[in-house]
Amino acid sequence: MDEELRAWVRSARAIAVLSGAGMSAESGVPTFRDALTGLWARFDPQQLATEAAFRRQPQLVWDWYAERRAAIDNVQANAGHLAIADFQRRHPGRLTVITQNVDGLHQRAGSAGVLALHGNIAQDRWLDAPRACCQADAIAPGRPPHCPVCGNLRRPAVVWFGEMLPEAELAAAQAAAEACDLMLVVGTSGEVYPAAGLAAVAREAGARVLIVNPQASALDRVATHCLRATAASALPLLLGDD
Ligand code: APR
Repeated sequence: MDEELRAWVRSARAIAVLSGAGMSAESGVPTFRDALTGLWARFDPQQLATEAAFRRQPQLVWDWYAERRAAIDNVQANAGHLAIADFQRRHPGRLTVITQNVDGLHQRAGSAGVLALHGNIAQDRWLDAPRACCQADAIAPGRPPHCPVCGNLRRPAVVWFGEMLPEAELAAAQAAAEACDLMLVVGTSGEVYPAAGLAAVAREAGARVLIVNPQASALDRVATHCLRATAASALPLLLGDD
C-alpha cells in the first residue's frame, strides 16, 4: 500500500466514502454493469427497475427483487465493509458512509449513520398512497403482497430509475461531500446521478478524491488518484491504524 495514500487518511479530518456495487462484489453480490456477472447483462434495467415496469408486470419485478433479497440474505459483509466500520469505531464522527447500494452490508458490518441514497432492498412500501384500509399488519400475501381491501401493491423500498432520491439522505450526503477533505470513491462506475456527482462536489470543495476500483470509471477524471485495487484488499490497508 502506498504510504502517501495512508498519510492522506491519517491527515484527513473528515472522510466521506461513496460506495457502489463493487463494494459488495467480494461478498458475492453481483454488480450491475460488470459484463459477465452484472445483473443487467441478464435483464433490461428498463424492464425491471422502474415504477412503470412494476405497474406493467408486478409479479416479474417482485420475483426479481425476491431473488436478489434471498441472495443478499446469504452473503456476509466483506473485509472492505468491516474496515470502514472499524475505522468509524476507532475514530467516531470522522468518516461518513454514502452508499448507492441497497444491500445493507455497510449496516450489517456495523457502520453507523449510513446514507443509503437508493433505499434498502430488505424493506417494502405501498405503491400508491396508503388509505385507511392499507394496514401494515393486514397485508395479503402474494407476488407482490397487497392490501386485501383496495388491492394497493407492496413494492421494494428502493429508488427506481427516474425516481427522486430520499431528500434527507441526499442533503446529508451533499453536506458530507462538501465538508470532507478526503473522499474514497469505492466500487462505482460513476454512471448514475445524482450520486455520482458527489465526487465532483468533494473535489470542487477542495477535498482529495481517491478512487478504489480495479477498472477505469467515469469518475477517474475527477480523481486526485486512482488506486487499481479491490475494496476488500485495499480498504483494510488504507483504513487500518499503524
Ligand atoms: N472492488 C472495487 N470495485 C469493484 C470491484 C471490487 N471488488 N468489483 C467491481 N468493481 C467496480 C467495477 O469496476 C465498476 O466500476 O465496481 C463498479 C460497479 O459499477 P456498477 O455495476 O455500475 O454499480 P454502481 O456504480 O453502484 O451502479 C450505480 O446504478 O443500476 C443503478 O441504482 C443502481 O446503485 C446502482 C447505480
